[in-house]
Amino acid sequence: MNRYILPLSVLGTAVGGAVLLKDFVAGGACPSKATIPGKTVIVTGANTGIGKQTALELAKRGGNIILACRDLEKCEAAAKDIRGETLNHRVSARHLDLASLTSVREFAAKINEEEEHLHVLINNAAVMRCPHWTTEDGFEMQLGVNYLGHFLLTNLLLDKLKASAPSRIINLSSLAHVAGHIDFDDLNWEKRKYDTKAAYCQSKLALVLFSMELSRRLQGTGVTVNALHPGVARTELGRHTGMHNSAFSSFTLGPIFWLLVKSPQLAAQPSTYLAVAEELESVSGKYFDGFREKAPAPEAEDEEVAQRLWAESARLVGLELSSGASERGQPLPK
Ligand SMILES: NC(=O)c1ccc[n+]([C@@H]2O[C@H](COP(=O)([O-])OP(=O)(O)OC[C@H]3O[C@@H](n4cnc5c(N)ncnc54)[C@H](OP(=O)(O)O)[C@@H]3O)[C@@H](O)[C@H]2O)c1
Repeated sequence: MNRYILPLSVLGTAVGGAVLLKDFVAGGACPSKATIPGKTVIVTGANTGIGKQTALELAKRGGNIILACRDLEKCEAAAKDIRGETLNHRVSARHLDLASLTSVREFAAKINEEEEHLHVLINNAAVMRCPHWTTEDGFEMQLGVNYLGHFLLTNLLLDKLKASAPSRIINLSSLAHVAGHIDFDDLNWEKRKYDTKAAYCQSKLALVLFSMELSRRLQGTGVTVNALHPGVARTELGRHTGMHNSAFSSFTLGPIFWLLVKSPQLAAQPSTYLAVAEELESVSGKYFDGFREKAPAPEAEDEEVAQRLWAESARLVGLELSSGASERGQPLPK
């Protein structure tokens, strides 16, 4: 009997340690209990993964939640699930394809026309490591969807956000931004051999730079903007990487994944926190890793790069801030 005591206690300690480590890595539930009755929130890419769970968490807290997705059928199914689970009937679905500037403008124009307020915009949608695809407007897909689509969307909704202040913008970036670099000579991967990983990292770095520059431009307006790494989560994001479907990787990496990877529900807690926490009402221009503010990569804090990227992005999406037309969601020539 005695000979089992040591191995059993080692096993018990290992299992206990693993569970504690998993809890630590996952970060736990949103530390804020704040509710948002009547506040209008848009979550892009909310039909699945972190976006859907974020919409659910915010619906539980009483918000008027707009799910913005490219597949309206999936979007409506998600909205129905959320209404059923939260009994909040102010959860609706709208079409938004971030790979189409026309769709972004149509979506923004409807919001500006039909919604009285907009208090929180969560730029959550993304595509990761897809093949060398381009958007309807000819942008490299990851830059186009993850960054340029959200850049235009945010700019088109700024007047509404300002009029609804205090209001917040949350840009879902990723720790992957640290491996990113903005290549101004070839933003859209037209000259170099396509590197699907580097393209994802560039798009996520662009989102942090955008958050920093927008925060400077929004000083004194009551609108805040922050970038966020939600943690690594088990979602559909890896659908283009192959690992998602590989039995070998599930088997060999399964235990490591169990330890280090969050559920979408836990990964939605940091977005929820940034959207509701009263203590963050005037915090802007920051990068969060989970619930904690952290310094982003040095390139993400380079003001010159951020200003240049803003100017180039405005040119690419046909946004001229001096012209009121673009801010009202009307198309401008590219
Ligand atoms: N999961 C992680 O480990 C992790 C880590 C760091 C950062 N993040 C970030 O967290 C955010 C959410 O990711 P996730 O893990 O929840 O991914 P996900 O499960 O793949 O969900 C991505 C969402 O984006 C939508 N989307 C893709 N292309 C779109 C387009 N052209 N127009 C509109 N929506 C589009 C997808 O719609 P469809 O279902 O129709 O494709 C889906 O709703 C992303 O910004 C991601 O980069 C995730």
